[in-house]
Amino acid sequence: MKRRVRASAPAKVILFGEHFVVFGKRALATAVNRRLVVEVSEKDGNGRSGKGGYHIKIENIPTFGLEVDLFRGEKGEKGEEGEEGGRGEALPYKDYGEATKAIAYVKESIKYLEESYGINREGGGVEIEIKSEIPLSAGLGSSAATCVATVAALKEFFGWGVGGGEGDLEADLETDLEAVREDAHRVELAVQGAASPVDTAISTYGGSVLVEQGEVKRLRLAGLTGLNLLVGCVGCLPLSRGTSDFGLKTKKIVEQVKARKETFKRIFDSLLEASEETTAEAVAALRERNFVRLGALMNINHGLLDAIGVVPRRLSELAKVSQELGALGAKVTGAGGLDEMGGVGSVLVLPGAVGRGKIKTAMEIAGALVLDVKTGGEGLKIEEKFDYNS
Ligand code: PMV
Repeated sequence: MKRRVRASAPAKVILFGEHFVVFGKRALATAVNRRLVVEVSEKDGNGRSGKGGYHIKIENIPTFGLEVDLFRGEKGEKGEEGEEGGRGEALPYKDYGEATKAIAYVKESIKYLEESYGINREGGGVEIEIKSEIPLSAGLGSSAATCVATVAALKEFFGWGVGGGEGDLEADLETDLEAVREDAHRVELAVQGAASPVDTAISTYGGSVLVEQGEVKRLRLAGLTGLNLLVGCVGCLPLSRGTSDFGLKTKKIVEQVKARKETFKRIFDSLLEASEETTAEAVAALRERNFVRLGALMNINHGLLDAIGVVPRRLSELAKVSQELGALGAKVTGAGGLDEMGGVGSVLVLPGAVGRGKIKTAMEIAGALVLDVKTGGEGLKIEEKFDYNS
């Protein structure tokens, strides 16, 4: 009997409160209709990775594609216990330099599940194939989606599946999803050193979440279902630049903000309060479906992010040109960027009734990759589970 499992998880955007959430203030985030798919299947023993190996393929559309073989016993990892009957000795590990870091989240998911759930590949090799519509380093939660979908697909594959318990299936699903969320958050934390729970919660549950006093609350907001937004991404680096860079990018920016807060304590107190209030008012505006007010609040949020130093020139230009062309609101989303890091990052735009096309074109001319996204939507999905005779 052979098995194959396919799981998918969505991207996210932070609408309000990024950075301020790190200091305990509110943040509002939502899933968007771009997904990352992970397929886990049994691998033929005579493949390049042979029996017992993990063979990982990652294809990030449209920027990137790479293929890496992983073995137990690979350089610098699991050294002493790495042989597994000598299979790892040959180290048929392609060192793509930075590219190998790109699969840090997949490797960490495997390691975490081996340690926490005792999954193992005694039955043969495992192929993990990832296809993503989520650009990297864009503040769209590609790493969280990778962790959530990889953890879920592997757990399902190895019999720790979502909804696999006995009894009330609904309750089981809730519990199992919560376990995936927590596992995925731990994996992301292990790779990045710091990560807010927002991304993995959204990738797991979909919909929208409000973080309030450090607690992640799932939320239903009339205005936040199926809202059409634009995301302009500057310098979406190909995955081959290494995902850990992206984790580090957020980390570095968060550290800079912290340092600035220490220097300007009282000013930051006011900024934090202003952000708290902006997010609260945004929730109210969304309840009333008042998008003009919502857009104005996005612009205020952008100004606050500028004040704390996370709006590089290139992202500033994208926001300004969008506002000029009639967007109801335009703001940096996610960690933002730094000029010294090439201004890599994203802006989120709420177009008005007209002018969407012009805004898109203007952002493209400014060098951005522009995505049409729709908010809300499903979280983690087991797309396919298949047992077939070999
Ligand atoms: O750009 P992203 O998706 O890594 O978002 C970072 C959001 C921050 O608030 C800056 C950090 C966090 O962990 O919440």
